[in-house]
Amino acid sequence: MKTRLLLLTLAVTTSLISANADTTKVKPNLDGIELPENYKDWKVISASHRLDNKSMRIILGNDIAIKAARYQQTNPWPEGTILGKLVWKQKAEENWPTAIAPDEFVHAEFMIKDSKKYKKNGTGWGWARWLGKDQKPYGDDKDLNQSCIACHTPVKGRDWVYSTPVSLP
Ligand code: HEC
Repeated sequence: MKTRLLLLTLAVTTSLISANADTTKVKPNLDGIELPENYKDWKVISASHRLDNKSMRIILGNDIAIKAARYQQTNPWPEGTILGKLVWKQKAEENWPTAIAPDEFVHAEFMIKDSKKYKKNGTGWGWARWLGKDQKPYGDDKDLNQSCIACHTPVKGRDWVYSTPVSLP
């Protein structure tokens, strides 16, 4: 009986691990940046709703980012910070039509703070995006992270980051 229980536990654990390990099958981008592990389990830093292209975004962070956010030490963000942004198209909430809700998944993108490794691009952050549900790495020789950096330049003085961590009680 005990052995059976153990086997069952092992089976469940293994399947949970392999579900998480799925992200490692995703291809790195052209800079060699890997899709951060377990990003789907990260905590929330902020949210945003883009009115022009009707999309909803959640901004997430790894443990280092969350700690920095809670202690308001975000300019600069500490080494090892990873910020993530997940984007969905929006739809009317089925059961409450005056609300909007996330619909189709658009992309996941990340900023990875490593001042030495990413010194060359002038920001101290690694930039990477994976498109759609099949998580295809974004970018080619024409544009890998130049458009990211160009669009984040107005917030250069905030360590290149737009989002302000949400206020919490
Ligand atoms: C057209 C302008 C634009 C481009 C291009 C762009 N971003 Fe952003 N990014 C923003 C804005 C604005 C936000 C703030 C959240 C929001 O409103 O979506 C943001 C937020 C983020 C965040 C969350 C941290 C923060 O700054 O708030 C990450 C991570 C991010 N972007 C990564 C990228 C990456 C990687 C690329 C390139 C592949 C990229 N961005 C390209 C405008 C841009």
